Order: sequence, then structure tokens, then C-alpha cells
Amino acid sequence: MEQESQMGKQVCLVFAVNGQRFQLSNVDPSMTLLEFLRTQTPFKSVKLGCGEGGCGACTVLVSKYDPLLDQVEDFTASSCLTLVCSINQCSITTSEGLGNSKVGFHPIHKRFSGFHASQCGFCTPGMCMSLFGALVNAEKAARPEPSSGYSKLTVIEAEKAIAGNLCRCTGYRPIADACKSFAADVDMEDLGFNSFWKKGERQEINLSRLPLYNHDQEICTFPAFLKRQVKASMLMDSERCSWYQPSSLEELQSLLKCPDANNGVRMKLVVGNTGMGYYKELEPYDRYIDLRYIPELSTIRRDQNGIETGAAVTISKVIEALREEIKDEFISASKLVFEKIADHMDKVASKFIRNTGSIGGNLVMAQGKHFPSDIATVLLAAGSFVHTITGTMHEKLTLEEFLKRPPLDSKSVLLSVRIPNCESIEEDGKLLFETYRAAPRPLGNALPHLNAAFLAEVSCSKSSSGNVLNSCQLAFGAFGTKHAIRAKKVEEFLTGKLLTTAVLYGATKLLKATVLPEDGTPNPAYRSSLAVGFLFDFLGQLVDSNPNGWLNGNGGLSMFEDAKSKEKHDNLDHVKFPTLLSSSKQVIQLNKDYLPIGEPITKSGSALQASGEAVYVDDIPSPGNCLYGAFIYSTKPFARVKGIKFNSKSLPVGVTSLISFKDIPKGGQNIGSIFVFGPEPLFAEELTQYAGEPIAFVLADTQKHADIAAKLAVVDYDLENLEPPILTVEEALERSSLFEIPPMLYPKQVGDLSKGMAEADHKILSAEIKLGSQYYFYMENQTALALPDEDNCMVVYSSSQCPENAQVAIAKCLGVPEHNVRVLTRRVGGGFGGKAMKAMPVATACALAAHKLQRPVRIYMNRKTDMVIAGGRHPMKITYSVGFKSNGKITALHLDILINAGITLDCSPLMPKAIVGALKKYDWGALSFDIKLCKTNLSSKSAMRGPGDLQGSYIAEAVIEQVASFLPMEADTVRAINFHTYDSLQLFYGVAAGDPLEYTLTSIWDKLATSSSFDQRTEMIQEFNRNNVWKKRGISRMHCVYDVTLRPTPGKVSILSDGSIVVEVGGIEIGQGLWTKVKQMVAFGLSAIKCDGAEDFLDKVRVVQADTLSLIQGGITGGSTTSESSCEAVRLSCEALVERLIPLKERLLMQTDSIRWEKLIQQAYLEAVNLSANSFFIPDSASTNYLNYGAAVTEVEVDLLTGQTTILRSDILYDCGQSLNPAVDLGQIEGAFVQGIGFFMLEEYTTNSDGLVDTEGTWTYKIPTIDTIPKQFNVEILNSGHNPKRVLSSKASGEPPLLLAASVHCATKAAIREARKQLHSWGCLEGSHSTFQLGVPATMPIVKELCGLDIVESYLQCKIGSN
Ligand SMILES: Cc1cc2nc3c(=O)[nH]c(=O)nc-3n(C[C@H](O)[C@H](O)[C@H](O)COP(=O)(O)OP(=O)(O)OC[C@H]3O[C@@H](n4cnc5c(N)ncnc54)[C@H](O)[C@@H]3O)c2cc1C
Ligand code: FES
Ligand code: FES
Repeated sequence: MEQESQMGKQVCLVFAVNGQRFQLSNVDPSMTLLEFLRTQTPFKSVKLGCGEGGCGACTVLVSKYDPLLDQVEDFTASSCLTLVCSINQCSITTSEGLGNSKVGFHPIHKRFSGFHASQCGFCTPGMCMSLFGALVNAEKAARPEPSSGYSKLTVIEAEKAIAGNLCRCTGYRPIADACKSFAADVDMEDLGFNSFWKKGERQEINLSRLPLYNHDQEICTFPAFLKRQVKASMLMDSERCSWYQPSSLEELQSLLKCPDANNGVRMKLVVGNTGMGYYKELEPYDRYIDLRYIPELSTIRRDQNGIETGAAVTISKVIEALREEIKDEFISASKLVFEKIADHMDKVASKFIRNTGSIGGNLVMAQGKHFPSDIATVLLAAGSFVHTITGTMHEKLTLEEFLKRPPLDSKSVLLSVRIPNCESIEEDGKLLFETYRAAPRPLGNALPHLNAAFLAEVSCSKSSSGNVLNSCQLAFGAFGTKHAIRAKKVEEFLTGKLLTTAVLYGATKLLKATVLPEDGTPNPAYRSSLAVGFLFDFLGQLVDSNPNGWLNGNGGLSMFEDAKSKEKHDNLDHVKFPTLLSSSKQVIQLNKDYLPIGEPITKSGSALQASGEAVYVDDIPSPGNCLYGAFIYSTKPFARVKGIKFNSKSLPVGVTSLISFKDIPKGGQNIGSIFVFGPEPLFAEELTQYAGEPIAFVLADTQKHADIAAKLAVVDYDLENLEPPILTVEEALERSSLFEIPPMLYPKQVGDLSKGMAEADHKILSAEIKLGSQYYFYMENQTALALPDEDNCMVVYSSSQCPENAQVAIAKCLGVPEHNVRVLTRRVGGGFGGKAMKAMPVATACALAAHKLQRPVRIYMNRKTDMVIAGGRHPMKITYSVGFKSNGKITALHLDILINAGITLDCSPLMPKAIVGALKKYDWGALSFDIKLCKTNLSSKSAMRGPGDLQGSYIAEAVIEQVASFLPMEADTVRAINFHTYDSLQLFYGVAAGDPLEYTLTSIWDKLATSSSFDQRTEMIQEFNRNNVWKKRGISRMHCVYDVTLRPTPGKVSILSDGSIVVEVGGIEIGQGLWTKVKQMVAFGLSAIKCDGAEDFLDKVRVVQADTLSLIQGGITGGSTTSESSCEAVRLSCEALVERLIPLKERLLMQTDSIRWEKLIQQAYLEAVNLSANSFFIPDSASTNYLNYGAAVTEVEVDLLTGQTTILRSDILYDCGQSLNPAVDLGQIEGAFVQGIGFFMLEEYTTNSDGLVDTEGTWTYKIPTIDTIPKQFNVEILNSGHNPKRVLSSKASGEPPLLLAASVHCATKAAIREARKQLHSWGCLEGSHSTFQLGVPATMPIVKELCGLDIVESYLQCKIGSN
């Protein structure tokens, strides 16, 4: 067959996926590899998380074969940007290809599972591939043979391998451990909690349990048949797929000259196509010209003048070449430059982008399309050159000239880039080179706020002591300019000068006038101040004659050494991090009372998730005739909709219909979702109510076509005679736009406020706090598939946290009885509350379209639309007045809280109770509040993990901090003084406080102080701060009190004739490990029968998808208690089954000594015992509500030049009762805490002036990554013992730990306070150093602003003054 195809007709493309041959004859050249894999192969492990290169969910391994060298090159790539035509003759490996349930899982899968590194599993296959890519390449390196079971990978490589991959569930620590377990240099003792190590056993035995990795027998990434094909050099039929691969410059020139190019045929030069991740061009091109096969563009040449790299060379290859060059002894002067450029380039995007993105692509984007490039800046400082051709005209220019030119036209090509060797001009001159970037993520995968690179030559002054700057090249970029620039005036000013404080001060003044972001650039002052900070960092150590370096008082800087790394030297540093993360402790206490409950078993299905075989809604194959939908949403908050047109000459390709509220069938209603507070509309009718509101649903033959059509849709609005929209809580209040809060949901005040205020020695009146929103960022976007069924029925697969509500909403929308609608949910790729209310309209729209068109309809929403529509966490404004004694004891607190609920009620009436619930964590003496739910023309805000509680707990801490600053006292002391006694706890929480013994918080507080060495570290931090000018540290300890509510939940356990067990529960598996706990509970519940074979019950249990027609009253999965309620429901079912089986067993035992489970069940079938038991767990009043406790200590370090906060260490101690599964709970605690870090430190979810979300993807919305989590992350789960009121004595873990992430924010505040104290001591701070508001999230610009945007100038002025 193969031979035949080789000899016979020409084909477009031939490649392999997981060893399987694919041959395509007609290809749409704009088709991405991801689209191909997901729609035309059975391999669904590649997931679409963002479609813009920013999440890694789609990572695959691409392998290329070089027949001349007989070598295979392997590299990871983002399949969402890689075009399928570019992989001709390549082999693709996806996670299924590493191993799977049929042929056996790969050790990577098994270790991900065993290290508890997969929760919802949506990120896991991509993570596995990123690790595999690093592993495969490490094995090829000329390194010593690793010992058996290990690879040649190093720990730091293992950590960096996943630096570009996002995970919203785990908090990364277990993923990093799974990756590190392969590293040759790992200390196995440093690896975190896993299912392989057994306590008390010898290390060798533990190690022998680790799934064996045999580096000699790794999978073949390039199949033999494809090698033969490559050797036969089968050519691609360019015409048929409009994909041209010129192999010479002449061929390229003639393609560009071709008359078609002038006749409206859209042509695109392409290398890695990663630029699409940024620009997201809508219309596909007619022709693509792949530049990778032209020698001038794809080779790297070295000579005595430097390195010349072809423009199509990938960034990864350029980095390799630069590092290769460093080894060369003859170019020592340039070593530093090359090394620094390579290090900087290593922070461009992520590995899987650098592996395909080219240096030329980057520069062309920087030159003509305003891309905030890092590469342009660093190459500019290094004095690089470029070579271009236009037609037959060759031009060699400096990079600076190139950047200043008008954008390269479509017929011009960048051929190569030359980075020159650097030489000193003066005999005794020494070269210095340094690069900088300030970005939300240190390792990359985030565009910088500003980048810079400086090349300078200095020599010792001959006339006086000090250093003279002979020459310098100072480049700055990405700060909101068209392209990177040289700060020429500053260069001229500095050149030839003796470096003194005054000169440096003069330079900073000039620089501030040079680095001026364009209008509209966010944080312009911050960016300018970064430029000053970087220049200061570079030149500071050379200033004045004092060779000991006055920067940090850290002694003995030799000016020509690598100044930056020296500057970082810190002889007081008590936390050293040779790798990204240091060894962390996870401490759990096992409970053996109800085995296998309490066992830390691995998550059910985690290996399947890792291999990518786990089926999510979008992995269900499309039925024939299926249509795909996309929402057209309003961009105006309050406007009449006159009509919808498409911004294209004809109807966009593939579009079949448009559905709006007008298509709701007779008897149906315009309902998209429903909750206890009522229904909410599916589509806007005549008037839009908020920007982001769905107006229509466009249907097309593919998801891509539907998405393009939705983007091309233009809505015609009419704003005449309409009131202005209400967008803020202040406007809502003014215009009385408020929702009513049902009195029973309004929390109760505590004590007598006026009395409390009268008792106070001091008062702070009307202080303000503002909190913004947060986006869920589940890795799996909203998705649904609706299938019309017989007799006016509808089957809907929905990724939903509450299928029951979805069923009701769909039935109401279609006007059919609920029994006509079956909603099915197997697993959800991350929910965090966002797949509750917000998943319903998605399912309803598909159902409505399917109903109208009588065809299957599905959607996988793109990230942008998802972010725009999602709503997210409730923003709010808080004004408070607090009275307190001089010793810090608070006597009264009053709050006015305005909650921005958005346009509809959603679950907002529950917010006041949740806010106050967590706020009551301290004994405020008297507590009163006035809470208003503001109705605004914004997307409706919904529950997001810890809804209300997160804000309430933070407000409490903000009040404490403010009181501490006022007095002034240590915040920790004020916390301790206001801690609840059991009596005050009871006063504030009533019955939820439980018995005195349940109040474990005080012991948690003290225990954590000891285990985290809180007092010693506080002292060390003081010492550190005294000795460091440019870095300040802060530490904070805090606790949480979280009131949870159990809800009625159904469960059903059925035993099949072979003894296997099938379970249905009301709860949905959203990654929180619900199924795992349920399985354990069934095994425990049925083990009461005590027959042989019961020991492997766990393997016999299968939990199946939620089906709203099979198990009713499933309710909503949320509020942290669904796992335990579902467990209790199945325990009750098991009890019923045991009761039915025991008499039979006892009868059988009269005839035999023992009885096996299978035999018992066989007999039960024969005797018609009912082997299916349904139950509905209804918590009694004593156990409905209970309090959860935990505490955390966090230490951070703030860089005063950039505002960057590094979380050095977090310690958490959390009470899980008797954990149902400590591994699962540990994962919940870590994952929640890291999601909280996102809220407090990173995630800005902003809108434009119309209220339309404008942080709409991974480029602007930054969730935590492996490089932004605590470097040391210690978690201990407290087993607080037996409690008959809890489900087998367990407590919840899903949400409460999120609140503890406020410790990161408060520690940051403490560090900033130190910075301001210092500023104050220089006489450069107006106002108080200790009383200030730190915004949430405390992003780099916010932190820097509080530390002083002019801190460098202030410092220099101060120095000049003191000299
Ligand atoms: C998620 C992500 C994060 C990123 N982060 C960073 C970052 O932090 N810093 C940074 O500097 N960059 C960053 N980048 C940009 C990245 O470096 C570029 O996308 C990449 O280098 C472009 O190369 P490419 O081969 O994929 O270009 P393509 O996408 O193939 O092409 C880009 C554009 O250049 C044109 N073009 C390409 N080569 C030539 C040529 N030789 N002559 C003429 N025109 C040409 C193409 O026609 C197209 O218009 C990021 C990219 C992504 C996707
Ligand atoms: S889907 Fe490709 S990187 Fe996110
Ligand atoms: S497990 Fe990583 S996103 Fe859910």
C-alpha cells in the first residue's frame, strides 16, 4: 500500500500520528494540527484550552527525520497554532501515543497518577507531552548514563518543561514532583506525597514501586515507514493544498513575483505560524509560502564577525547556537553577550512556542505589527544587522534602521539576522552586557511590561578613581511603542563620562523623558520607572569610586564580573533555591477506622486522563449531520438591537442559520438558565442589557466556521432615547437599581454597635476597600452537544455542575415536559462554579437549535467568548468604620457593602451570608452591616470558588491590618488579640460552631507557628530588611473560618450479576475527586457484608455519568460539600443492600464455611433480591452546617525596582476532620490556595468603558504558573478525630483553603511597608509609610507604585545630598 502511494499519484501530505499513517489529498491550508487531530483522528488527548499558544493543553511532540544524518529531531509544539501542512513527512506523538489503557500506560502517565498530579485532567495530556519532549531530548544529550530507572533529565529541566503549561486545579506542586521523579539529579526524598512511597519502608523498596522508566527502551517517535517515505523524497502537491515550500531563494522570488499575487490572491509567508496566536486573523489566506526549506533562511553561520542566523531558524535553535558559541574559546569577549541573549530568549513565550516560532517571524512582527518583542530589544542592544530582499534587491541594514522603516510589505522577505561579536574599543576597556524584562511570570509565557538590554564598555578612569563609560547601547522595548528603541540621548549623555551618582541621576532624568509609552498604554508611569530601575541596576554598581559597591551593602562587587548575579547574592538569605521549587513537606495523618475510606488512593481515572482517553463532552464524536454553534454577543450594555449583518461580502463560509429569541418554540420561554431565585434569559430581545449578552447563536458546518461567522457579525444598535447604562455600584445606588435580598438570607448582626463604638479608644471611620472580579479559567471551555431524540425529546451532553437545573431550563425553553430532556454529564474539565449557572445557556442554546433544526448541534466555546460571557466573581465596594482599644482589641465594626451583581440575580442573594460568614472569623465585639445587591448593566456575576467567603475573609484581614497600622502594632498581634474564644465563636456562628472540642483553630494557630518557625523567621526578615535596600521581605500568618452547608443529595448503588458495582450520585466529578471518594465509600459500605473478595471492592466499583432521567434531584455541585453528601448518600444505599444481602449470606454460610462475593450475588440474582438501592441523604439540623478551620503563613520578597513579588514559602495547616481521602484533600488545599494567589496577586479581569470584558485570553489574563507559586509549599492536614455529626468524621476541603491565599497579599503588604519606611527615612515619602491600601490583585505595577515609582531618583538624590 505504502509503495503504491509512493510510486503512484502525488498526494498533498503524508505524516504519522502515533505511528499511524495519514495521507491527505485535499487540505485546507489554514487548518491547524489541533483541528485535524480532533476532528479527523481518534486522538482526542490534544485539548483546546486557548487556541493562542498560551496554555499548553494542545502540546504534541513533532518529530522530523533527516535522511542524510539518519537522525530524528524531536520537539514539542502547540498544535493549536501549527498548521497541518507544515507537518508533511513528520511524525506526531500525542499522549495516547506514549501509552494507553490498551497497550499499557507510559510511566509518565502512571507517575502523574501516582503523584496525584491530575485533578480535572484537562491539562494533563499536554503536561505529559511537555515532559516527554524534555525527556526525549535530554536522553539524546551527551551526558553520563543515568542510574537505572532515571533519565538524563535534570530537575531544573523537568520543572521548566512545564513552565508554559497552565493548570487551574492542582497548584502545580504535584505535577512538578511527577516530572522531577524522572530526573537524574533528583533527591527522591525531596519528592512530595505520592502513592508509591509507603511510610516506614526503606527508600529502595519505595523506589522500586515507582513505575519503571527504562531510558533504553523509550518509544520510537518516528516510524520506519515514514523514514522510507522521507528517503524517497515524496514531494508535496503544492497546488492542491495551496501550500508552497520553495527550496531556494529563486523559487521564493518567482512565487512572490507570480501575477496571482497582484490579483487579489492573499498570500502569506509562514514559518511557525505562532504569530496567529497574537493576531488571530480571521480570513484564511489563499496561499501559504513556507520559508523553512530555503537554505539562506534556515541555516546558522558563524565566523569571526559573529553569528548569522537565517530568519526561519526557530528561537530554540538560535538559543542552542548561541550557547554552542559560548563554548568557543576564541570569542570570549562576546561570550557574555551571547549567553545573556540566549538566557533572555529562553523567557520568550514557552518551550513549545520557541520550538516552532522563528527569530525572523518575531522580528517581522516587531517591525511592522507593533509586537512587543523581546528579541528585537536584546538584538538591538547587541548592535545586530538584518538582511532583506525585495524582488531581487538585497539590502543589509542595522536592526535599528530596519525597525524604523515602514512595515515590510508582503513581497519582502527577511533573510537573516547577524549578531556581531563584540570587542572593546579601549585597550583596558571591559564589556558589560545585561538584559532585563519585567513580566507577570518570571520564566516567560507572559509579555513584558518593559524589556531592556544594555551593552557598555567601561574602563578605570586614568585621572581620578572611578569608572568611565567609554560607550554604550541602551535598548528598551515592549513599553507601548511601535518598536524597540535605542535611548540615544541617554547614550550620548553617558558616553565618556566618569560614572558618578550625579551622572547616573542625570541619566535617569533623561531616560524618563525618553521611555514614554504611547497614549492608551496601561500603566505608563510604571513602565517608565522600570526603565530607570533597569538602568540603575546596570550602572549602579559602577558608580563612584567605592569598589565595595554601595548598592546593597553586600560587599566586594567586582565591576567586571557578572554584576547581576552578584547583586543577587544575599548572605542573609535563609532560603536558597537552586531549582524553581524547593523540597516541600506534605504531612497527613491516616485514619484506618473505615478502610478503604481514609486511604490516599489515586484519583479514579487519572491515568486515563493523563493518556487523554478520558472522554469530555467535546471528545464525543460528532454525529453525522451535526452543526456547530457560536454566540453573537452584544458589545453595548444598553441598546436596541436593530439587526445583525455579517461583515463579509457573502454569508460566511459554512453558515446555515441564525437562532435568536424569535426561534423559541410556541409554549417555550426565553430561558437560558434557572436557579432557586428564578430563570434568566437565553438571548437579548429588543434591548440588550449588558455588553457580552448573547443576542444570537450562529450555526455552521464546523466550529471554526461558526466562530468566524460570529466574529464577522455586526450588530446594528440604536441608542436613541435610552437611559445611560448603570455600570458601577455607585450609579446603581444613586439610581436605586437594587435587587432585594430575601430576609431569611440576610445575615444577622452581632452585638450592639453603638455600645462597641463607645467602648473604643480609637476609631477609623469610612475606610474603603474595592475588590474586583475573577474569571474561572477552567481549562475546558463551556461546551455542550444536543441530540434530538424521538417523540420531541432531547438528549444533551453538558459540561455542567448542575445538570438538573440545565434540564429544567431546557425544558422550559423548549416548552416540553422535563421528562423529555435528558442531560448527561460524565466529567467536567474544571468548574470552580463557572460550570453551574453559566453552563446552562450553552446547553440550552444547543438544545434550542437542535430542536428547531432537528439536527445534532454542539458547541465548544472559544476562550474569548467564554471570558466575555462568563461573569465571574462578584466585585464589591466596602466602606467600614471600626472602633478599637489601644491594645488592639476591636470593639465594633460596621460595614457598608455594595455588591455588583450584574444584570440578573443568579446566585447573588446568597452572597451577603457568605461574606459575613467568613468575615466573622474574628471577634469584632459588635458587628453590623448594610449590604446591598446592586443591579448593573454588566454580565451577571456568579458563584466562583469561595464566593463571598473569599471577599469576607479578606475584608476582615484588611480591617485588622488597618488597625495595626493605625496603632501601630504588628498585624499578627492584633490578629491574636481578636481571635475567637469558643464563647465568642458561638455568639457569632451559633450552632455551626459545634462543640468546644470541634474548635481546633487555636491549636492550628499555635502549631503552625511552630512548624513554620514563624517567630524566628519574623526576626530573620527584619534582619534581611535592615540589610537590603532593593529587596524587602514580609511575612504574614492568618486563618480562615468557613461555614459550609450540606445539601440533600441522591445516590444509587446497583450490583450487577458478576458482582461488579455501578454507582450514580448527584454530585458531578469536576476534578475534585468526588468519584474517588464515592468509590471508597461504596467499598467501605459494602464491606459490612464481610465475605471473601470484599478486599478488592475498589476495583469492582464504577461511578457513571450523571443522567437526569436516571437519578433525579441531583442538585448543584458546589459549596465544598457535594463529595461528602454524595458519599453519605451511597453509604445509605450500601446499608440498604447489606441489609438485603446479610440474611442470604447467613443462610448460605450454614452450608459452607465461607462465601465469595460473586457467589453471593449470583445467588441473590437467582432469589430475586433487589440489588439496586436508591437513597436520598437529607442532613439533619445538627449536621447541616459546620465550620472549617485552617491557617497559613506566607513569606514573600518584593523587588523594589520592578514591583515583582516572589512567594518564598507558604505553610498551611488545615483541618480535614478524618479525611475521606487525604491525597484528594491535599490536592484541593494546594489547588485552592494557588487559585487564591491568582485572585490576590495576578488576575486582572477588566472591562472597557461599556463594561465589555477586555481581558479576553491568555495574553492578558494571567493565572498562576509553576514560576509564580510558593517556592516552598508545605501543607499539613490535621486529623481532628472522631465526630459523629460529620460524614464518617470528615470535613470539607474544596473552597476554604482559597481564603488563606490572602496571607500572600498581607505578606506583600508587610514587605511594601518596609519599602515605604525606607523611603520615609530618605525623606522621600509624603504621607504615612504604614497606612496605605494595596489593591487586589497586587500586580507588579500596583506594588511598584506603592514602593515608589521614583524610588531610584529619590535614592540618588538622597545620595547626592549626603555627599
Ligand atoms: C503564546 C506566545 C507567547 C509569546 N511570548 C513572546 C514574548 O514573551 N516575547 C517575544 O519576543 N515574543 C513572544 N512571542 C512571539 C513569538 O516569538 C513569535 O510568535 C514567533 O517568533 C513568530 O515566529 P513564527 O515563525 O511563528 O512566525 P509566523 O507566525 O510564521 O509569522 C509571523 C509574521 O511574520 C511574517 N514572516 C515570518 N517570517 C518572515 C520572513 N522571514 N520574512 C518576512 N515575513 C516573515 C509572516 O508572514 C507573519 O506575518 C510569543 C508568541 C506566542 C504564541
Ligand atoms: S490550546 Fe494551544 S496553547 Fe492553548
Ligand atoms: S488538572 Fe490541570 S487543569 Fe484541571
